[in-house]
Amino acid sequence: GRSPVVLGIESSCDETGAGLVREGRLLGHAVASSMDEHARFGGVVPEIAARAHVHAATPVVRRALAEAGLTMSDIGAVAVTTGPGLSGALQVGVAAAKGLAYALGVPLYGVHHLAGHVAADTLEHGPLPDPCVVLIVSGGHTSLLLVRDLARDPIVHLGDTLDDAAGECFDKVARVFGLPYPGGPAVDRAARDGDPRAVAFPRPMTGPRDDPWTFSFSGLKTAAARWAERHRAAGRPLPVADGAASLQEAVADVLTRKAVAACTEYGVGTLVVVGGVAANSRVRSLAEERCAAAGIRLRVPPLRLCTDNGAMIAAIGDLLVRAGAEPAPLNVSVDPSAPL
Ligand code: KG4
Ligand code: ZN
Repeated sequence: GRSPVVLGIESSCDETGAGLVREGRLLGHAVASSMDEHARFGGVVPEIAARAHVHAATPVVRRALAEAGLTMSDIGAVAVTTGPGLSGALQVGVAAAKGLAYALGVPLYGVHHLAGHVAADTLEHGPLPDPCVVLIVSGGHTSLLLVRDLARDPIVHLGDTLDDAAGECFDKVARVFGLPYPGGPAVDRAARDGDPRAVAFPRPMTGPRDDPWTFSFSGLKTAAARWAERHRAAGRPLPVADGAASLQEAVADVLTRKAVAACTEYGVGTLVVVGGVAANSRVRSLAEERCAAAGIRLRVPPLRLCTDNGAMIAAIGDLLVRAGAEPAPLNVSVDPSAPL
């Protein structure tokens, strides 16, 4: 028979997401964000995020079902993010998923947030080729992965950031530049009117002795802050557009250079770029240029599937169900610092 409709629930950070997927097809999804509530603090406040998930969990599930034209009784399996993420935030989603799975008498699957980000692209572009290189860039992660069969094989972690994630770098520098939170989209908008060659920001971890798959963004953040400080100290207005364009160029350069090099090194023909920063216009255009030059196929999911959402969790859940994976026990716990 047909495989079941999988409900995916995501609550690892400030987005509450619910999505419904069957056999690789997205049937409906909904996202609620507590982003506005964190804006005046300049970053996600864990306790506020957890409370917001409590309020949003049931409504987003209902909205996803309504969009799909389905009811609760159509749900045949539940997948939920168990980590990594904020502990309190994760616990709300996991509790909701357990309650639904228990009440509906359907299996529960605990999934890794990053595997969800990778799976997001399958909803738009179909099954992933084996192998592929995945660059995950968000507010919490900057990782290069070697992915085989998502449902069966362990993901190989090629490298990570030593310090800040790329999205965190955008968010923190945006603050210094006086741009609104979240900083990534604000930097992207401001950069449209700027010159990417105006400021020669460093390209961290690209030296001959640096690990080719490891990133570092705290030095770039500091360089941007110093540049802004020099203008302020001299009483000059800050050329925000030039600063934003130059910062974006530096981040996009490092990310795409390493990702394409990983494809070449491992003889992989497909690069997938996922996570919130994959929404960045320069990351996208430079990835396109460099992949085309290297003969690599580039896959980037649409913006709405790049940022945290429930559809991506449903997507990995659907892959697990169809691969015959073992469901999680109903007492499964969250794993805030889950390794891959
Ligand atoms: O994947 P995501 O929604 O959440 C996690 O961090 O897991 O990613 C959010 C991050 C934030 O740091 C945000 O500033 C960044 O993605 N972001 C962007 C853009 N849109 C979102 N960064 C640069 N350019 C963008 N257009
Ligand atoms: Zn994420």
